[in-house]
Parts: sequence; structure tokens; C-alpha cells
Amino acid sequence: MVVVGNQWGDEGKGKVVDWLTEQAQGVVRFQGGHNAGHTLVIGGQKTALQLIPSGAMRADVACYIGNGVVVDPEHLMAEIGRLEAAGVELRARLRISEACPLVLPSHVALDLAREASRETRGLGRIGTTGKGIGPAYEDKVARRAVRLQDLKHPRRLADKLRETLDWHNFALREYLHVAPVEFEPTYQRLLQLAEPIAPLLADVGHCLQRCRERGERLLFEGAQGTLLDVDHGTYPYVTSSNCVAGNAAAGAGIGPRAIDYVLGITKAYTTRVGSGPFPSELPIDQPGSVGHHLHTVGQERGTVTGRARRCGWIDTAALKRANLINSTSGQCITKLDVLDGLPEILLCTGYRLDGRDIDILPLDADDIARCQPHYERMPGWKETTAGLTRWEQLPREARAYLERVAELSGTPISMVSTGPDREHTIVLQHPFGD
Ligand code: GDP
Ligand code: IMO
Ligand code: MG
Repeated sequence: MVVVGNQWGDEGKGKVVDWLTEQAQGVVRFQGGHNAGHTLVIGGQKTALQLIPSGAMRADVACYIGNGVVVDPEHLMAEIGRLEAAGVELRARLRISEACPLVLPSHVALDLAREASRETRGLGRIGTTGKGIGPAYEDKVARRAVRLQDLKHPRRLADKLRETLDWHNFALREYLHVAPVEFEPTYQRLLQLAEPIAPLLADVGHCLQRCRERGERLLFEGAQGTLLDVDHGTYPYVTSSNCVAGNAAAGAGIGPRAIDYVLGITKAYTTRVGSGPFPSELPIDQPGSVGHHLHTVGQERGTVTGRARRCGWIDTAALKRANLINSTSGQCITKLDVLDGLPEILLCTGYRLDGRDIDILPLDADDIARCQPHYERMPGWKETTAGLTRWEQLPREARAYLERVAELSGTPISMVSTGPDREHTIVLQHPFGD
């Protein structure tokens, strides 16, 4: 089963993946890097994951990082260390594809310097997480990436690193006018990190094939969201990988016929971190306003960067596109409880663009920026839905809202999340079919 974000990320993928692992034997990340931030809450205890799959909190679940992920080795070992310090034993059940490209310190320098340079040149920032993710994917596609497998061969590592740093340092010094990254300390640090990382490396695609032969259930955990996808998102205000369900196959090393179900994670409203168009956005700083309510009650602040997330109404015209691209089998609507107490709820069902009415999110970011949203209004509910576990317990208005979201976005709802904890979950149709 593939679990993907249907909006601009932070839909609650981590919570849902952790919940589903009760019935799965493995969780696989297939794209992105430590730009992701997935928060799990188990018995009131919070754990924030970035690079490690959300199967981490169940001792009997295997975790895989597929070839489509870019890995910062420094961050990887720090995150494993943090989890181990909290009593989570991981190394024996974590396998990482040796084909993963590395995120190097020079990628971080390039990411930060480019953002600053865009600003100086009046282009405006993309609003990246500053983790070096974009430059690392550039090197992958340019066929000059240093990969995890190179850590096993010190001479080859030195040659490739020297070549790559030469290129990065040219750009850093001559074009971006910032300090270069030195070869020797970078190389020595990679050699140190190679030791604990080497036993974790594997042929992940082959491992997953064997899991399938044993009849195991695997979850493919997306990072970011469909509207941040480098091809299908609001380009250039996107991340640098394919976040859509189709990439689960290529990014993990399995075939598309191995995927039986696509679960789209849809927040009951919309949020976005970083720049880019957002038609149903509301201002968040006015106390008493709906935007302020979503921001504060939803605690909409980035896990990775601590930035305030932009907030707005649900956009079913954007969801329609996401559900089409992902061939979503069912949706899980998360954070329904955040809408509790709002007298009225609005759904963006389409837009007016240059004198025409349209009912699906356009492709061009400049067109999206000119879209005037069309809203449908529905009554809210006064009761609290926080922590509810059965569909029948939901207020009539909440059920009507969810049914309307399913209808407008073109995909049935299989689950509803009513709180951050594992337990706060309603199942309509179990995605695993039981
Ligand atoms: P992800 O990146 O898609 O995994 O989402 P994040 O973890 O970045 O952001 C979702 C936030 O909402 C986290 O802090 C979760 O603990 C929290 N959360 C998830 N589901 C629910 C829910 O149904 N209700 C509430 N109130 N919070 C939720
Ligand atoms: P999860 O997995 C929300 C956004 C950044 C920026 C754009 C590009 O927690 O949903 P990048 O550093 O990737 O080059 O930044 O993508 N972004 C996310 N927004 N959730 C995420 O991950 C994100 N990962 C990247 O804010 O707009
Ligand atoms: Mg997140």
C-alpha cells in the first residue's frame, strides 16, 4: 500500500502510517530526505521523524529507505542516535539502499546561498527547508552524485567527492560569492560515518521482493505532498522529487503491479509551508478569524524548520487533481477535530480564472496565483470530535462535510483522523481490507 500526501505536505502521513503498521511488516520511504517532518503521538508521547520511516515505533516492523531518497549521512546517524537514546532499537531492522545519493555539506551551502541570491535578485525565495535536498537531486540527475555505496570504497569516494566538490565550490565561490566547502574534512568525516552506516546498506528492491514472496504487507510512505511534486506541483515552488504515488515503485525498486492500494492523506483544511500560490489561503494573524483558528488550534508550525504554516479552507478542485494523479483508492481525512466549533465551513470547489470558471487546479503556478476561489458553504458543528473512534459518533454536520469532500474530490473516504494519537482514528473501510 502506498500512503501519499494529497496537498502541500504535513497532512498527517506519519500518524496514519504508524497506525497502519499494526497490520504491516515493513515501511518503505521512496523519495525526499530529511526535509520531511512526520510527528507520531503514541500514548501522549511525541516522536518527530525526518528520514527514518514511520514504522520506527513498532519493534517488529522493518524499516527501509529506498533508492529514491537522498540521505544526509550526518543527519541519518544523528536521527538514529536520538531514537536509540529514547529506547528505540532500530539498526537491526533498518535497511538502506546503497544506491541512495548523499546530501553533502556543499549541498546545504548551495541551497542556502541560492535562496539568498534569489532574494537579492528580486526573484523571491522558494522557501526551502535549507537541508540541501534540491542540489542533491540535481547531482543525481546530472550523474555526478556520491552514493552510499561509494562509502564502501575509500579511493572511489575520494575521487568522486573531489570532482563533485570542485563543481560545487566553483558555483559557491564564483557565482554565489560565499565560502567554499573544503575537501579534506568532508572526506574524513564521511570515512568516519561510513563505519556505522555500512552494515545498514542493502539491495532494498531485492529485500522487498522477498518480503512479497513471504506474503508480507508493506507500506510505502510518501514525504511532502502531491502539490509539491517536481512535475505535477506548483513549479517552481515545489520540492525536487516526485511525491506522487507512481514514484513509490521507481523510488523503492519494485514494479507498479506490486501496488494494491493507494491511500491519499487529506487534511480537513489546507496548509502550506514556504512560498507559492495557495488559492484558498486565509490570513492567520487576526485573532478571532478562521485562519487564526486553524493555525492555533491545528498547531500549524513546521516540524523541521519551526516556520508558521500558511492555512486555508479545503480545496476540492486541487484534491481532484491529486486523486487523479495518484489514482487514489481511498482518502484518510485528518485533523477533522481542528474544525470543531467553527460556525460555518467553506470548501473551495473551483476557481474563476481570466473570466472562465474551472473546477480543477490549473498546472501553471502563475495561473494558480490568479485564481479566484469559488466557495461552497456548509454548516459547522458545536460538538467536539476530538478523539472519536466511530463514524456514528460524529455530528451530523461533520459527516455531511466529509461526504461532500469525498464527492467533490472524486474519491471515497476510508478513514478519518480525529486527533494526533494512534487511538484517535475512525475506520470506514480498512485500507488493508479487513
Ligand atoms: P506529515 O508530514 O504528513 O507526517 O504531518 P506532520 O506530522 O508534519 O503534521 C501533522 C501534525 O498534526 C502532527 O503534529 C500530528 O501529530 C498532528 N495530527 C495528525 N493527525 C491529527 C488529527 O487528526 N488531529 C489533530 N489535532 N492533530 C493531528
Ligand atoms: P512532510 O513530509 C511541508 C516544502 C518547503 C518548500 C519546498 C521546497 O513533512 O510533509 P525543499 O527543502 O524540499 O527543497 O523545499 O517544499 N517542503 C515541505 N512542506 N512538508 C514537508 O514534508 C516538506 N518538505 C519540503 O517548505 O516550500
Ligand atoms: Mg510534516
